[in-house]
Amino acid sequence: MCGIIGYIGHKDILSVLISGLSKLEYRGYDSSGLCVQNSGNLTIIRKCGKIAELSAALSQSSLSGKVGIAHTRWATHGEPSEKNAHPHSDCTKSIALVHNGIIENYHSLKELLEKEGHVIETEVDSEVLVHLIEKFYEGDLEEAVMNALSYTEGTFGIAVMHKDEQRIVAARRGSPLVVGIGENEMFIASDVSAILNHTKRVIYLNDNEIATITNTHCVTKNLGGEILTKKVDEVQWTIDAIEKDGFEHFMLKEIFEQPQSIANTLRGRVVDGKVKLSLNVDVKNVKRIIITACGTSWHSALIGKHFIENLTRIPVEVDYASEFRYRKPIIYPGDIMVAISQSGETADTLAAIKEAKAQGATTLGIVNVVGSTIAREVDGGIYLHAGPEMGVASTKAFTGQLVALLLLALYIKQQKGEKLDNELLEDLQNLPTLVKQTLESSKKIIDLAEDFKDSKDFLYLGRGINFPVALEGALKLKEISYIHAEGYPAAEMKHGPIALVDSHMPVVFIAPHDSTYEKIISNMQEIKARKGKIIAVSDKGAEIQKLADIVFKVPSVRDELSPIINILPLQLLSYYVANVKGLDVDKPRNLAKSVTVE
Ligand code: M6R
Repeated sequence: MCGIIGYIGHKDILSVLISGLSKLEYRGYDSSGLCVQNSGNLTIIRKCGKIAELSAALSQSSLSGKVGIAHTRWATHGEPSEKNAHPHSDCTKSIALVHNGIIENYHSLKELLEKEGHVIETEVDSEVLVHLIEKFYEGDLEEAVMNALSYTEGTFGIAVMHKDEQRIVAARRGSPLVVGIGENEMFIASDVSAILNHTKRVIYLNDNEIATITNTHCVTKNLGGEILTKKVDEVQWTIDAIEKDGFEHFMLKEIFEQPQSIANTLRGRVVDGKVKLSLNVDVKNVKRIIITACGTSWHSALIGKHFIENLTRIPVEVDYASEFRYRKPIIYPGDIMVAISQSGETADTLAAIKEAKAQGATTLGIVNVVGSTIAREVDGGIYLHAGPEMGVASTKAFTGQLVALLLLALYIKQQKGEKLDNELLEDLQNLPTLVKQTLESSKKIIDLAEDFKDSKDFLYLGRGINFPVALEGALKLKEISYIHAEGYPAAEMKHGPIALVDSHMPVVFIAPHDSTYEKIISNMQEIKARKGKIIAVSDKGAEIQKLADIVFKVPSVRDELSPIINILPLQLLSYYVANVKGLDVDKPRNLAKSVTVE
């Protein structure tokens, strides 16, 4: 939610800020803006819409300077408009601020500041913060920011500059920030992708920390003013990983990257018939596991429940993080909470972890982004190593999460002293090859996209371990093509959704040849009898061909691996349908990649 970049150094400031923002655009794209310090003044330029609008507005600009901050917005308070875009500034136009997060005591602060004569021009909560900093400013920006934050409730990742100071002050509580260290230049950013083409040396800020950067120094303190000694990390991601590499969209690139990303998740983790994980947590005596997540990661959690319960017989509960945190959950001694998150920044998932920890649970994370807040909050965990996922619609993270969950289930079984199935381990090692084959043979789905682009509704049906695949297939379609889609357990269809079925309704069946196969065939017949258009994802040929209008044929795999294979044609279906509709696949309306507000 919202992306921030700040720069202080000798390079062309507009290109550093604009290229940084374009890497952060996946975090929000309602509006954008920047501020550059120029001859003792602050110049602020803001635009409604995507970064391209801001970039176009600056194309003829000769604006230059050595200190600047920029922001891409996902609106929380106040509609997406130029006026509400960041940076915001104070009454004297001496201070500029960009903010990610929500100021919860916005109303009381606004009232207080207005009584003192501040003119607050927008409905944006962030604007009160810059006025609060102005109130405390007496020649030292860092001190003023610290003072202002001591009165601030809520979440923030901020970068602030003053017209008379050659530095940027940044602080975080609940919204990620990273400092990038270059040669006579420093950066501040919401995540490393914005600065990766300049430096790989970074300092991750923790909650309630403040960093003051000049072009040569970075001083970090806690919000109480004590100086902190922070570790400088070396980022492992490459620049190529955040480029489209010839693909039209990141989403398509990430779909086709899955053979590699799955191989990365597996690398070094299955050795000589054993699963090797450095979990940092003893799982041998676990009594119950609670998996929590949001969105696509929650769908992985539902499949993870199957893996863990089937392989270890340990009971697993799956909770939406946003529900878990507010419903007085019961935690027993010996419970482990597993939190799944691609970004490692999702606010609800983080809050659920904190709640579980407070009640005595041990926590594990299944996270993609190394060094993210959730990765640092949990007691131990598994990184996906899937590389950066830039498309808002999650694809390679989903399959990586499934592989990580399967490894976790196998590892728990092994730690309990039970023998692992060697064939399953071999099949797991062979998975990247099967994923590659499936993707290659699914490319022809592109020819069908035109037929579905005008559909109003889709139904996705699956059973057992493939029911969450139906949920995920439906989510993929609705979030990028704006076609209403529902995922349902196939047997539940008769209890309501079948009323929707007519000749205009495409119904996608996930129909692997497993113990649920016969039942799925009956469900298909019920749809056929009502003239629904059947699309089947199946490893079975002839029989399905008779019933289904379209079959996406996939390789036969064992039950545990079938969700990973079956989701692939559904990812492509949603991509091609959205693309043929001419929609912005990587930046679907109203969404942001990383949901750092509740
Ligand atoms: O980064 P996280 O995995 O915690 O994100 C959770 C959801 O916001 C995310 O999966 C969302 O549902 C995606 N847009 C799905 O494609």
